[in-house]
Amino acid sequence: MALTLESVSYRYAGATRESLHDVSLELADGEVVGVVGASEAGKTTICLVASGLAPRSIGGTLKGRVLIDGIDTADKPMHELAAQVGISFQNPATQLSQVADTVFEEVAFGALNLGLARADVIRRVKEALAAIGITDLGERDPRHLSGGQMQLVAIAGLLAMRPRHLVLDEPVAQLDPEGRALVGDALKKLAAAGTGLLITEHDTDLLARLSSRVLVVDGGKLVESGATDEVLADPRLDDWGVEPPARVRLQRALLAAGLNSELPA
Ligand SMILES: Nc1ncnc2c1ncn2[C@@H]1O[C@H](COP(=O)(O)OP(=O)(O)OP(=O)(O)O)[C@@H](O)[C@H]1O
Ligand SMILES: [Mg+2]
Repeated sequence: MALTLESVSYRYAGATRESLHDVSLELADGEVVGVVGASEAGKTTICLVASGLAPRSIGGTLKGRVLIDGIDTADKPMHELAAQVGISFQNPATQLSQVADTVFEEVAFGALNLGLARADVIRRVKEALAAIGITDLGERDPRHLSGGQMQLVAIAGLLAMRPRHLVLDEPVAQLDPEGRALVGDALKKLAAAGTGLLITEHDTDLLARLSSRVLVVDGGKLVESGATDEVLADPRLDDWGVEPPARVRLQRALLAAGLNSELPA
């Protein structure tokens, strides 16, 4: 059971060159995979392709295949795909419907669009709010929440559609430390409950905490992949425009100062 990109190359509509070249990756059910890379490296493009938005919603040209459980998604209608792979973007405010007056309604929005019975939607919304730990926000106006809370509402809305995989493009990029902690905790819970997560982030501390594997993308190509601890300690990260986690930076500083000590795990 997996979401798979098989030798995917992708060119945006009107662009002269490809933004992704021959990218292959697999996200197993319940697995958390991080994607890092400099600005313009191709992280968002991977998210758009993995979720099926590119090319079917935004156009462009795709080579290779995107598969769910080995079945090519090219032939699936978008609503079917959206129910299997949810995608969220970095700016939480732009993800809200702007028409819902309560968080409960907001979270129900996507599930209602799947054409489910009302009782089913209500049950799903309650579950999604609980899974993210924001049941107490249900009656609040989604437009008057903190950035971190808004991001949680957006993710809960995806969860209510019961996708097997979530693709999160820089979920904490625009959040303050409190928002980052809030979203990090919620994602940790989701992963523990078995939702597969593909997370792009500049915040490698978040990935160090959540993901089992990390992929590095540079110039539209996958240049490295492996266990999180190994990849995030790779000395080439700087060349790829990625800041290592605080722990790795501290370890390096200690080494440079001649304090050859190992940090306790
Ligand atoms: N709509 C578009 N049309 C044409 N080219 C695009 C479009 N969006 C992105 N690109 C190009 O595709 C490449 C990858 O961009 P992408 O947005 O995936 O990078 P990113 O890793 O998400 O960067 P950031 O960290 O800044 O979000 C870049 O060269 C970018 O200029
Ligand atoms: Mg991006």
